[in-house]
Amino acid sequence: MLGKTGYPNEVFLNGQWLPAAQATVSVFDRGFMLGDGIYEVIPFYRRKLFAFEQHLQRLRQGLESVGIDYGTDQLRERTAEAIARSDYEDGAVYMQVTRGVAPRKHHFPADTEPTVLLYAYPFRFDGFEQKLAHVLLSEDFRWHRCDIKSISLMGNILANQAAYQADKTENVLHRQGWITEGSHTSVFFVKDNILYTHPNGPYILPGVTRDVVLSIADELGMAVREEAVAVADLRLVTEAFLTGTTMQVTAIGSFLSDDRRLVIGSGSAGPVTRRIQTAFAGRTKAL
Ligand code: PDD
Repeated sequence: MLGKTGYPNEVFLNGQWLPAAQATVSVFDRGFMLGDGIYEVIPFYRRKLFAFEQHLQRLRQGLESVGIDYGTDQLRERTAEAIARSDYEDGAVYMQVTRGVAPRKHHFPADTEPTVLLYAYPFRFDGFEQKLAHVLLSEDFRWHRCDIKSISLMGNILANQAAYQADKTENVLHRQGWITEGSHTSVFFVKDNILYTHPNGPYILPGVTRDVVLSIADELGMAVREEAVAVADLRLVTEAFLTGTTMQVTAIGSFLSDDRRLVIGSGSAGPVTRRIQTAFAGRTKAL
């Protein structure tokens, strides 16, 4: 259950389930002090996990690439437990693993135990087909390892806050004129009847929903290019949409850049977006 405060009632912390109010970590935890950790957000629909293995695999890769030694297999049972102990039909399981507690130094400490936090929270996924995102477009000033799902999200937070202040759903970012991804979403475009999305690599998070959408596009026989779209070519784009665990497949109606608004296509979800949304909903219903 989510308490009145908006926090979950209980969380799994370092080997045990605790009432959230009693779950505490040291101020010297490297997650708290340095943002030194990796996280995942895994959705469940009607209490069934969606693309669980892909999320776990990304977590494993993230931990490996930052040298945190933690066996993620133990999280399978914990994740199932989180859902079983909750009474949410639809929701997500948040999990994070930090490097643990040690006196503050930049380099890795020797022999620390990772700090592991995990909990389920409710989320309403239905209705994404009816949503339309009007987004901000701005410079991607994040680091060059956006493929790592680091808990230090300052770049993403600042980008998202700029969108929030401009009353926009998301901030879609570009690096030197090439569109990368949103502050917490992947982004797709349709140009000349071809579906485009930025290739995986250091400049984007390898989105799990992005992968699902690519497999749907393949199944539907769509032409796909994993290539970045240039800001200068946005006027040639006939459809655009965001993907992610929390946004699923949400059509983009317009971009706001330097106080200029560019409407995409008809300004609402186009035919390619609709086909992908339908197939995506089908996959979540088939769980
Ligand atoms: N965000 N790009 C970024 C920067 C993200 O933070 C996310 C997810 C995505 C989409 O990834 P996926 O399809 O695997 O959810 C792309 C999560 C949900 C978050 O931080 O809450």
